[in-house]
Amino acid sequence: MLAGKRILLIIGGGIAAFKSLDLIRRLRERGASVVPVLTPAAEEFVTPLSASALAAEKVYRTLFDLTDEAEMGHIELSRDADLLVVAPCTADLMAKMAGGHANDLASTVLMATDKRVLIAPAMNVRMWEHPATQRNLATLRGDGVLIAGPNEGDMACGEFGPGRMAEPLEIVAAVEAALMDGPLKGRHVVVTSGPTHEPIDPVRYIANRSSGAQGAAIARALAALGAKVTFVTGPASVPPPDGVAVVKVETARQMLDAATAALPADAAVFAAAVADWRIAEDRPQKIKKDGSGKVPVLEFSENPDILATVARMAEGRPRLVVGFAAETEEVIANATAKRQRKGCDWIVANDVSPSTGIMGGSENAVTLISADGAEEWPRMGKDQVAARLADKIAEALE
Ligand code: CTP
Repeated sequence: MLAGKRILLIIGGGIAAFKSLDLIRRLRERGASVVPVLTPAAEEFVTPLSASALAAEKVYRTLFDLTDEAEMGHIELSRDADLLVVAPCTADLMAKMAGGHANDLASTVLMATDKRVLIAPAMNVRMWEHPATQRNLATLRGDGVLIAGPNEGDMACGEFGPGRMAEPLEIVAAVEAALMDGPLKGRHVVVTSGPTHEPIDPVRYIANRSSGAQGAAIARALAALGAKVTFVTGPASVPPPDGVAVVKVETARQMLDAATAALPADAAVFAAAVADWRIAEDRPQKIKKDGSGKVPVLEFSENPDILATVARMAEGRPRLVVGFAAETEEVIANATAKRQRKGCDWIVANDVSPSTGIMGGSENAVTLISADGAEEWPRMGKDQVAARLADKIAEALE
Protein backbone atom coordinates (compact mmCIF):
# COMPACT_ATOMS: atom_id res chain seq x y z
CA MET A 1 0.00 0.00 0.00
CA LEU A 2 1.07 3.55 -0.63
CA ALA A 3 -0.79 5.38 2.14
CA GLY A 4 0.77 8.75 2.88
CA LYS A 5 3.26 8.53 0.00
CA ARG A 6 3.63 11.48 -2.33
CA ILE A 7 4.50 10.86 -5.95
CA LEU A 8 5.61 13.48 -8.43
CA LEU A 9 4.39 12.12 -11.76
CA ILE A 10 6.08 13.62 -14.81
CA ILE A 11 3.98 12.92 -17.88
CA GLY A 12 5.99 13.04 -21.11
CA GLY A 13 4.65 13.60 -24.58
CA GLY A 14 3.73 10.28 -26.10
CA ILE A 15 0.64 8.41 -27.15
CA ALA A 16 0.93 6.39 -23.90
CA ALA A 17 0.25 9.58 -21.91
CA PHE A 18 -3.43 8.64 -21.78
CA LYS A 19 -2.46 5.59 -19.68
CA SER A 20 -0.86 7.93 -17.14
CA LEU A 21 -4.30 9.25 -16.28
CA ASP A 22 -5.23 5.70 -15.27
CA LEU A 23 -1.91 5.47 -13.40
CA ILE A 24 -2.93 8.52 -11.33
CA ARG A 25 -6.20 6.78 -10.44
CA ARG A 26 -4.46 3.51 -9.51
CA LEU A 27 -1.88 5.23 -7.33
CA ARG A 28 -4.56 7.23 -5.53
CA GLU A 29 -6.66 4.09 -4.96
CA ARG A 30 -3.70 2.76 -2.97
CA GLY A 31 -3.51 5.85 -0.79
CA ALA A 32 -0.77 7.83 -2.57
CA SER A 33 -1.11 11.47 -3.45
CA VAL A 34 -0.01 12.34 -6.97
CA VAL A 35 1.32 15.70 -8.13
CA PRO A 36 1.36 15.81 -11.95
CA VAL A 37 3.93 17.66 -14.03
CA LEU A 38 3.08 17.91 -17.71
CA THR A 39 5.68 18.60 -20.38
CA PRO A 40 4.51 20.86 -23.22
CA ALA A 41 4.50 17.80 -25.51
CA ALA A 42 2.34 15.87 -23.02
CA GLU A 43 -0.29 18.57 -23.31
CA GLU A 44 -0.74 17.51 -26.95
CA PHE A 45 -2.00 14.16 -25.66
CA VAL A 46 -3.73 14.86 -22.33
CA THR A 47 -5.10 18.07 -20.88
CA PRO A 48 -3.85 19.65 -17.65
CA LEU A 49 -7.47 19.76 -16.56
CA SER A 50 -7.95 15.99 -16.77
CA ALA A 51 -4.66 15.31 -14.93
CA SER A 52 -5.57 17.84 -12.26
CA ALA A 53 -9.10 16.51 -11.87
CA LEU A 54 -7.93 12.90 -11.44
CA ALA A 55 -5.09 13.85 -9.10
CA ALA A 56 -7.15 16.41 -7.16
CA GLU A 57 -3.94 18.47 -7.13
CA LYS A 58 -2.55 21.44 -8.97
CA VAL A 59 -0.76 20.50 -12.18
CA TYR A 60 2.70 21.99 -12.76
CA ARG A 61 3.58 22.91 -16.32
CA THR A 62 6.33 25.46 -16.81
CA LEU A 63 9.51 26.44 -15.08
CA PHE A 64 8.90 30.14 -15.34
CA ASP A 65 5.41 30.24 -13.93
CA LEU A 66 5.99 32.85 -11.25
CA THR A 67 2.87 31.97 -9.29
CA ASP A 68 4.19 28.45 -8.89
CA GLU A 69 7.61 29.74 -7.91
CA ALA A 70 5.96 31.85 -5.21
CA GLU A 71 3.97 28.89 -3.93
CA MET A 72 6.60 26.21 -4.41
CA GLY A 73 9.94 26.47 -6.21
CA HIS A 74 11.11 23.71 -8.52
CA ILE A 75 13.69 22.58 -5.98
CA GLU A 76 11.06 22.17 -3.30
CA LEU A 77 8.70 20.51 -5.77
CA SER A 78 11.36 17.90 -6.53
CA ARG A 79 12.12 17.22 -2.86
CA ASP A 80 8.58 17.25 -1.54
CA ALA A 81 7.84 13.84 -3.12
CA ASP A 82 8.82 10.39 -1.89
CA LEU A 83 9.44 9.21 -5.45
CA LEU A 84 9.60 10.77 -8.93
CA VAL A 85 7.91 8.76 -11.66
CA VAL A 86 8.33 9.58 -15.35
CA ALA A 87 5.54 7.95 -17.40
CA PRO A 88 5.59 7.89 -20.30
CA CYS A 89 9.32 8.55 -20.48
CA THR A 90 10.06 9.47 -24.09
CA ALA A 91 13.39 8.96 -25.86
CA ASP A 92 13.89 12.72 -25.58
CA LEU A 93 13.29 12.75 -21.82
CA MET A 94 15.69 9.84 -21.39
CA ALA A 95 18.32 11.73 -23.39
CA LYS A 96 17.81 14.87 -21.32
CA MET A 97 18.10 12.92 -18.07
CA ALA A 98 21.20 11.05 -19.23
CA GLY A 99 22.79 14.29 -20.43
CA GLY A 100 21.93 16.25 -17.30
CA HIS A 101 19.86 18.90 -19.09
CA ALA A 102 17.72 21.30 -17.10
CA ASN A 103 15.94 23.51 -19.60
CA ASP A 104 12.31 22.97 -18.65
CA LEU A 105 10.32 22.10 -15.55
CA ALA A 106 10.45 18.29 -15.97
CA SER A 107 14.20 18.08 -16.61
CA THR A 108 14.94 20.63 -13.88
CA VAL A 109 13.07 18.78 -11.14
CA LEU A 110 14.73 15.54 -12.27
CA MET A 111 18.13 17.19 -11.88
CA ALA A 112 17.31 18.87 -8.58
CA THR A 113 15.76 15.94 -6.77
CA ASP A 114 17.34 14.01 -3.92
CA LYS A 115 14.75 11.23 -4.24
CA ARG A 116 14.72 8.05 -6.30
CA VAL A 117 13.47 8.21 -9.86
CA LEU A 118 11.47 5.53 -11.68
CA ILE A 119 10.95 5.78 -15.44
CA ALA A 120 8.48 3.93 -17.67
CA PRO A 121 9.94 4.31 -21.18
CA ALA A 122 7.54 4.42 -24.12
CA MET A 123 8.52 4.94 -27.73
CA ASN A 124 8.65 3.41 -31.19
CA VAL A 125 10.59 0.14 -31.29
CA ARG A 126 13.33 1.56 -33.52
CA MET A 127 13.78 4.53 -31.23
CA TRP A 128 14.02 2.14 -28.26
CA GLU A 129 16.58 -0.03 -30.00
CA HIS A 130 18.60 2.92 -31.30
CA PRO A 131 22.16 2.87 -29.90
CA ALA A 132 21.65 6.39 -28.51
CA THR A 133 18.64 5.29 -26.44
CA GLN A 134 20.41 2.14 -25.28
CA ARG A 135 23.43 4.23 -24.29
CA ASN A 136 21.17 6.60 -22.36
CA LEU A 137 19.45 3.64 -20.71
CA ALA A 138 22.80 2.29 -19.53
CA THR A 139 23.76 5.73 -18.19
CA LEU A 140 20.47 6.08 -16.33
CA ARG A 141 20.79 2.57 -14.86
CA GLY A 142 24.27 3.52 -13.73
CA ASP A 143 22.86 6.63 -12.05
CA GLY A 144 20.54 4.42 -9.99
CA VAL A 145 17.36 5.23 -11.94
CA LEU A 146 14.74 2.48 -11.70
CA ILE A 147 13.20 1.25 -14.95
CA ALA A 148 9.71 -0.25 -15.46
CA GLY A 149 9.19 -1.84 -18.88
CA PRO A 150 8.93 -1.22 -21.74
CA ASN A 151 6.77 -4.13 -22.85
CA GLU A 152 6.75 -5.86 -26.19
CA GLY A 153 3.66 -5.70 -28.37
CA ASP A 154 1.76 -3.93 -31.13
CA MET A 155 2.51 -0.26 -31.16
CA ALA A 156 0.33 2.73 -32.00
CA CYS A 157 2.60 3.39 -34.99
CA GLY A 158 1.80 -0.03 -36.48
CA GLU A 159 5.11 -1.73 -35.64
CA PHE A 160 5.73 -4.59 -33.23
CA GLY A 161 8.42 -4.98 -30.58
CA PRO A 162 9.65 -3.53 -27.30
CA GLY A 163 8.67 0.07 -26.69
CA ARG A 164 5.13 -0.04 -25.28
CA MET A 165 4.84 1.62 -21.92
CA ALA A 166 4.39 -0.81 -19.00
CA GLU A 167 0.76 -1.11 -17.93
CA PRO A 168 -0.39 1.17 -15.08
CA LEU A 169 -0.60 -1.75 -12.63
CA GLU A 170 2.93 -2.85 -13.51
CA ILE A 171 4.15 0.69 -12.83
CA VAL A 172 2.22 0.69 -9.53
CA ALA A 173 4.02 -2.55 -8.54
CA ALA A 174 7.40 -0.94 -9.36
CA VAL A 175 6.43 2.14 -7.31
CA GLU A 176 5.47 -0.08 -4.37
CA ALA A 177 8.77 -1.97 -4.60
CA ALA A 178 10.73 1.31 -4.77
CA LEU A 179 8.97 2.73 -1.73
CA MET A 180 9.07 -0.39 0.40
CA ASP A 181 10.46 0.54 3.76
CA GLY A 182 13.33 -1.87 4.21
CA PRO A 183 15.49 -2.00 7.35
CA LEU A 184 18.29 -0.17 5.51
CA LYS A 185 16.13 2.75 4.37
CA GLY A 186 18.09 5.97 4.81
CA ARG A 187 21.43 4.13 5.02
CA HIS A 188 24.24 4.54 2.53
CA VAL A 189 26.49 1.58 1.78
CA VAL A 190 29.56 1.55 -0.49
CA VAL A 191 30.33 -1.77 -2.20
CA THR A 192 33.50 -2.51 -4.19
CA SER A 193 33.32 -5.37 -6.66
CA GLY A 194 34.97 -7.19 -9.53
CA PRO A 195 38.62 -7.45 -10.53
CA THR A 196 40.96 -4.56 -11.21
CA HIS A 197 43.01 -4.26 -14.38
CA GLU A 198 46.56 -3.03 -14.01
CA PRO A 199 48.05 -1.83 -17.30
CA ILE A 200 51.38 -3.19 -18.50
CA ASP A 201 51.34 -0.86 -21.50
CA PRO A 202 48.49 0.77 -23.45
CA VAL A 203 47.25 -2.57 -24.84
CA ARG A 204 48.03 -5.15 -22.15
CA TYR A 205 47.01 -5.55 -18.55
CA ILE A 206 47.22 -7.85 -15.54
CA ALA A 207 43.89 -9.09 -14.19
CA ASN A 208 42.38 -11.87 -12.10
CA ARG A 209 39.51 -14.32 -12.43
CA SER A 210 36.90 -12.46 -10.36
CA SER A 211 33.55 -12.19 -12.20
CA GLY A 212 32.10 -9.59 -9.83
CA ALA A 213 29.09 -11.88 -9.20
CA GLN A 214 29.37 -11.84 -5.41
CA GLY A 215 29.79 -8.07 -5.18
CA ALA A 216 26.87 -7.43 -7.56
CA ALA A 217 24.67 -9.80 -5.54
CA ILE A 218 25.59 -7.99 -2.31
CA ALA A 219 24.81 -4.57 -3.81
CA ARG A 220 21.46 -5.91 -5.09
CA ALA A 221 20.59 -7.42 -1.70
CA LEU A 222 21.46 -4.20 0.15
CA ALA A 223 19.37 -2.11 -2.27
CA ALA A 224 16.48 -4.55 -1.82
CA LEU A 225 16.56 -3.77 1.91
CA GLY A 226 16.21 -0.08 1.08
CA ALA A 227 19.85 1.04 1.24
CA LYS A 228 21.26 3.68 -1.07
CA VAL A 229 24.18 1.81 -2.61
CA THR A 230 27.26 3.20 -4.35
CA PHE A 231 28.69 0.33 -6.38
CA VAL A 232 32.34 0.84 -7.29
CA THR A 233 33.19 -1.84 -9.81
CA GLY A 234 36.22 -2.93 -11.77
CA PRO A 235 35.78 -4.48 -15.25
CA ALA A 236 33.46 -7.32 -14.14
CA SER A 237 31.88 -9.90 -16.41
CA VAL A 238 28.42 -9.69 -14.79
CA PRO A 239 26.34 -6.53 -15.21
CA PRO A 240 25.81 -4.20 -12.24
CA PRO A 241 22.43 -4.50 -10.50
CA ASP A 242 19.57 -2.05 -11.09
CA GLY A 243 18.80 0.65 -8.58
CA VAL A 244 22.36 1.34 -7.42
CA ALA A 245 24.70 4.18 -8.34
CA VAL A 246 27.50 2.63 -10.40
CA VAL A 247 31.04 3.99 -10.54
CA LYS A 248 33.19 2.14 -13.07
CA VAL A 249 36.94 1.98 -12.52
CA GLU A 250 39.84 -0.05 -13.87
CA THR A 251 42.79 0.11 -11.54
CA ALA A 252 43.22 -0.30 -7.79
CA ARG A 253 44.22 3.33 -7.42
CA GLN A 254 41.07 4.49 -9.24
CA MET A 255 39.01 2.17 -7.03
CA LEU A 256 40.51 3.70 -3.89
CA ASP A 257 39.72 7.22 -5.14
CA ALA A 258 36.15 6.28 -6.07
CA ALA A 259 35.48 4.44 -2.80
CA THR A 260 36.74 7.28 -0.63
CA ALA A 261 34.94 9.90 -2.76
CA ALA A 262 31.68 7.99 -2.14
CA LEU A 263 31.97 8.46 1.64
CA PRO A 264 30.37 9.24 4.05
CA ALA A 265 28.62 5.90 4.36
CA ASP A 266 27.08 3.88 7.16
CA ALA A 267 28.79 0.71 5.97
CA ALA A 268 31.28 -0.37 3.33
CA VAL A 269 31.69 -3.83 1.86
CA PHE A 270 34.93 -4.55 0.03
CA ALA A 271 34.13 -7.49 -2.22
CA ALA A 272 36.52 -6.53 -5.03
CA ALA A 273 39.43 -8.76 -5.94
CA VAL A 274 41.95 -5.93 -6.03
CA ALA A 275 45.32 -6.50 -7.68
CA ASP A 276 47.97 -6.36 -4.98
CA TRP A 277 50.57 -5.07 -7.39
CA ARG A 278 50.76 -2.84 -10.42
CA ILE A 279 53.53 -2.44 -12.96
CA ALA A 280 56.02 0.04 -11.53
CA GLU A 281 56.83 1.81 -14.74
CA ASP A 282 54.18 3.85 -16.60
CA ARG A 283 54.57 2.90 -20.26
CA PRO A 284 52.85 5.24 -22.68
CA GLN A 285 53.90 3.08 -25.68
CA LYS A 286 53.30 -0.59 -26.50
CA ILE A 287 56.26 -2.83 -25.61
CA LYS A 288 57.71 -4.13 -28.91
CA LYS A 289 59.62 -7.28 -29.73
CA ASP A 290 63.05 -6.20 -30.94
CA GLY A 291 63.85 -9.50 -32.67
CA SER A 292 66.74 -10.32 -30.34
CA GLY A 293 64.77 -12.93 -28.40
CA LYS A 294 65.14 -10.86 -25.23
CA VAL A 295 61.95 -10.87 -23.08
CA PRO A 296 60.81 -7.85 -21.07
CA VAL A 297 61.21 -7.99 -17.32
CA LEU A 298 58.37 -6.33 -15.44
CA GLU A 299 58.88 -4.65 -12.11
CA PHE A 300 55.97 -4.30 -9.71
CA SER A 301 54.95 -1.76 -7.06
CA GLU A 302 52.45 -2.45 -4.32
CA ASN A 303 48.93 -1.09 -4.75
CA PRO A 304 47.21 0.79 -1.93
CA ASP A 305 45.04 -1.42 0.26
CA ILE A 306 41.56 0.08 -0.14
CA LEU A 307 39.97 -1.90 2.68
CA ALA A 308 42.73 -1.10 5.17
CA THR A 309 42.78 2.57 4.14
CA VAL A 310 39.06 2.98 4.81
CA ALA A 311 39.01 0.75 7.92
CA ARG A 312 41.79 2.82 9.48
CA MET A 313 40.41 6.26 8.64
CA ALA A 314 40.69 8.50 11.67
CA GLU A 315 37.69 10.54 10.57
CA GLY A 316 34.63 9.53 8.57
CA ARG A 317 35.17 5.77 8.88
CA PRO A 318 31.93 3.93 8.07
CA ARG A 319 30.39 2.41 11.21
CA LEU A 320 30.71 -1.09 9.76
CA VAL A 321 33.59 -2.09 7.49
CA VAL A 322 33.41 -5.54 5.89
CA GLY A 323 36.24 -7.16 3.98
CA PHE A 324 36.60 -10.43 2.12
CA ALA A 325 39.43 -12.90 2.37
CA ALA A 326 40.17 -15.05 -0.63
CA GLU A 327 42.32 -17.89 0.69
CA THR A 328 43.58 -21.14 -0.69
CA GLU A 329 44.83 -22.66 2.60
CA GLU A 330 44.35 -22.23 6.38
CA VAL A 331 41.22 -20.23 5.57
CA ILE A 332 40.09 -19.36 9.11
CA ALA A 333 43.53 -18.68 10.57
CA ASN A 334 44.58 -16.50 7.62
CA ALA A 335 41.28 -14.62 7.54
CA THR A 336 41.31 -13.97 11.28
CA ALA A 337 44.80 -12.52 10.99
CA LYS A 338 43.68 -10.49 7.97
CA ARG A 339 40.78 -8.96 9.97
CA GLN A 340 43.21 -7.68 12.56
CA ARG A 341 45.83 -6.56 10.08
CA LYS A 342 43.37 -4.54 8.01
CA GLY A 343 41.40 -3.14 10.94
CA CYS A 344 37.95 -4.08 9.58
CA ASP A 345 34.97 -5.25 11.63
CA TRP A 346 34.07 -8.38 9.71
CA ILE A 347 35.82 -10.60 7.21
CA VAL A 348 33.87 -12.85 4.90
CA ALA A 349 36.37 -15.64 4.29
CA ASN A 350 36.21 -18.07 1.42
CA ASP A 351 38.30 -20.84 0.00
CA VAL A 352 39.11 -19.97 -3.59
CA SER A 353 41.20 -23.08 -4.37
CA PRO A 354 40.42 -24.12 -7.95
CA SER A 355 38.89 -27.39 -6.65
CA THR A 356 36.08 -25.45 -4.90
CA GLY A 357 34.87 -23.84 -8.18
CA ILE A 358 33.97 -20.68 -6.20
CA MET A 359 35.96 -18.07 -8.12
CA GLY A 360 33.87 -17.36 -11.21
CA GLY A 361 31.20 -19.88 -10.12
CA SER A 362 27.65 -19.33 -8.84
CA GLU A 363 28.09 -20.72 -5.32
CA ASN A 364 30.08 -19.70 -2.30
CA ALA A 365 30.99 -21.30 1.03
CA VAL A 366 31.95 -18.63 3.52
CA THR A 367 32.90 -18.15 7.14
CA LEU A 368 32.02 -14.82 8.74
CA ILE A 369 34.77 -13.69 11.06
CA SER A 370 34.08 -10.93 13.57
CA ALA A 371 35.32 -9.93 17.02
CA ASP A 372 32.94 -12.64 18.32
CA GLY A 373 34.72 -15.44 16.44
CA ALA A 374 34.07 -17.48 13.31
CA GLU A 375 30.59 -18.39 12.02
CA GLU A 376 30.61 -20.99 9.29
CA TRP A 377 27.82 -20.73 6.69
CA PRO A 378 26.77 -23.74 4.60
CA ARG A 379 27.63 -23.72 0.89
CA MET A 380 24.90 -21.77 -0.91
CA GLY A 381 24.27 -19.59 -3.96
CA LYS A 382 26.07 -16.25 -4.13
CA ASP A 383 22.64 -14.54 -4.04
CA GLN A 384 21.84 -16.30 -0.78
CA VAL A 385 25.20 -15.39 0.74
CA ALA A 386 24.46 -11.80 -0.28
CA ALA A 387 20.96 -11.81 1.24
CA ARG A 388 22.25 -13.24 4.50
CA LEU A 389 25.10 -10.75 4.66
CA ALA A 390 22.72 -7.85 3.89
CA ASP A 391 20.41 -9.00 6.73
CA LYS A 392 23.36 -9.10 9.12
CA ILE A 393 24.49 -5.63 8.04
CA ALA A 394 20.95 -4.31 8.62
CA GLU A 395 20.98 -5.85 12.12
CA ALA A 396 24.37 -4.35 12.91
CA LEU A 397 23.29 -0.86 11.82
CA GLU A 398 20.00 -0.90 13.77
N1 CTP B 1 41.66 -5.39 -0.70
C1 CTP B 1 41.66 -4.03 -0.94
N2 CTP B 1 42.73 -3.45 -1.56
C2 CTP B 1 43.79 -4.18 -1.92
C3 CTP B 1 43.82 -5.57 -1.67
C4 CTP B 1 42.72 -6.14 -1.07
O1 CTP B 1 40.67 -3.36 -0.62
N3 CTP B 1 44.81 -3.58 -2.52
C5 CTP B 1 40.53 -5.96 0.02
C6 CTP B 1 39.68 -6.93 -0.78
O2 CTP B 1 38.61 -6.27 -1.42
C7 CTP B 1 39.18 -7.85 0.31
C8 CTP B 1 40.32 -7.87 1.31
O3 CTP B 1 41.06 -6.70 1.07
O4 CTP B 1 38.05 -7.34 0.96
C9 CTP B 1 41.22 -9.04 1.27
O5 CTP B 1 41.65 -9.33 -0.02
P1 CTP B 1 42.62 -10.57 -0.27
O6 CTP B 1 42.98 -10.59 -1.71
O7 CTP B 1 42.05 -11.80 0.35
O8 CTP B 1 43.82 -10.16 0.65
P2 CTP B 1 45.16 -9.47 0.38
O9 CTP B 1 45.21 -8.23 1.17
O10 CTP B 1 45.40 -9.35 -1.05
O11 CTP B 1 46.15 -10.49 1.07
P3 CTP B 1 46.85 -11.81 0.48
O12 CTP B 1 46.81 -11.69 -1.01
O13 CTP B 1 48.19 -11.74 1.05
O14 CTP B 1 46.03 -12.95 0.97
